[in-house]
Amino acid sequence: MKHIIYICVLCFLLNFIIPTTETFCDDGQTNIEIDLHGESDWKCLKTSWSLNNITKSPPSKKCYPLQGGSHVCIDNVIDSLYPKDVIPNSGPHRTVWAVYGEHKYVPPGRFVHNLEHGGVVFLYHPCAPVHLIETLRNVAKTCTWKHVFAAYRNLTQEFPLAVLMYGCVYKMNRINSTDISNWVRARAKKSPEDDNRQGGYNHSLIELSLPPVIHEKQEFCPAVPEPTPTPTPTPRTDEAIWAVGSLVFICAILIAAVCYTKLWRSKPGYDNSGAKLWHDGNAGGSMSVAAVVRKLPHMMKSKMKNTRSAASSSFYTRIEDNLSSSEEEL
Ligand SMILES: *[C@@H]1O[C@H](CO)[C@@H](O)[C@H](O)[C@H]1NC(C)=O
Ligand SMILES: *[C@@H]1O[C@H](CO)[C@@H](O)[C@H](O)[C@H]1NC(C)=O
Ligand SMILES: *[C@@H]1O[C@H](CO)[C@@H](O)[C@H](O)[C@H]1NC(C)=O
Ligand SMILES: *[C@@H]1O[C@H](CO)[C@@H](O)[C@H](O)[C@H]1NC(C)=O
Repeated sequence: MKHIIYICVLCFLLNFIIPTTETFCDDGQTNIEIDLHGESDWKCLKTSWSLNNITKSPPSKKCYPLQGGSHVCIDNVIDSLYPKDVIPNSGPHRTVWAVYGEHKYVPPGRFVHNLEHGGVVFLYHPCAPVHLIETLRNVAKTCTWKHVFAAYRNLTQEFPLAVLMYGCVYKMNRINSTDISNWVRARAKKSPEDDNRQGGYNHSLIELSLPPVIHEKQEFCPAVPEPTPTPTPTPRTDEAIWAVGSLVFICAILIAAVCYTKLWRSKPGYDNSGAKLWHDGNAGGSMSVAAVVRKLPHMMKSKMKNTRSAASSSFYTRIEDNLSSSEEEL
């Protein structure tokens, strides 16, 4: 009896130590052709639809009962396991999910697994109007790094575009990016295995999407605020305001300086060496305004030298500072 127990314990332990030879299931590279149907998966084999051919209608948004997410190995057909009338959005899937980014085509067996991990799948019919495809691509890229963007021929002319999240399908024939963003945000991070792991299936990958450095900061489909047209002053009016402002400022200083100097001169005991400047080439101090303007900087400098020690020197210093700073501005 004791021996039997020993043997059982040994068998139990060996079961953990020696790995059981597992049969190959799926690596995302081997025998993947079982899920592919050639060019028709991603190429429009007729003429593309023009927008006029597609009657505008509100988007169709639906969520479906979740199907169990069992893994289906690559030697078994998977497409036929999905209901015919619905774009696959949950249920059985391949072991290896698609690398995030733009692909020519991603089989449903791959993208359903992406959905399970919280990815957002953007699909377009290969014959959808080119500018709708372009717009949807931009929505996908700005929405989340965890996007799969690819062609899907089982979409219809009525709704040639679709966005999928786990268990839900949003079909459309016109793009309202605000509405898509709201719809995605409402379902973000609710899938059973939400994580930030990159996929492994990269057959017909066009552009890889990489995770951001800081995952926590990532917001799904951030709401894009509508640009509100605010009347901004054009550079020209700005310049004009500056020019007029500077002119008024300088005039004010000139007037103040002239008045102040005249008052100063009329004071008894005024230093005549400074007064000489006023009379240079002028009879009786009746100087023209232009001459005053021309001479003022020199006058002020020499006056400053004369009156540095005086109590009023700070006034001149201030004027000179103002003058030089307004010169710089000009
Ligand atoms: C699309 O509409 C145009 C006319 O606007 C028509 O000539 C063309 O045959 C239509 N194409 C399809 C695929 O329905
Ligand atoms: C698309 O539709 C066809 C016909 O209804 C169906 O046989 C096929 O399994 C569907 N899925 C894919 C991925 O083509
Ligand atoms: C787009 O969607 C938003 C949010 O659902 C809605 O308020 C708006 O009316 C829609 N715009 C158009 C043109 O349908
Ligand atoms: C796909 O992944 C494999 C292995 O990581 C790599 O060697 C190969 O270059 C990739 N192919 C594409 C198209 O990115």
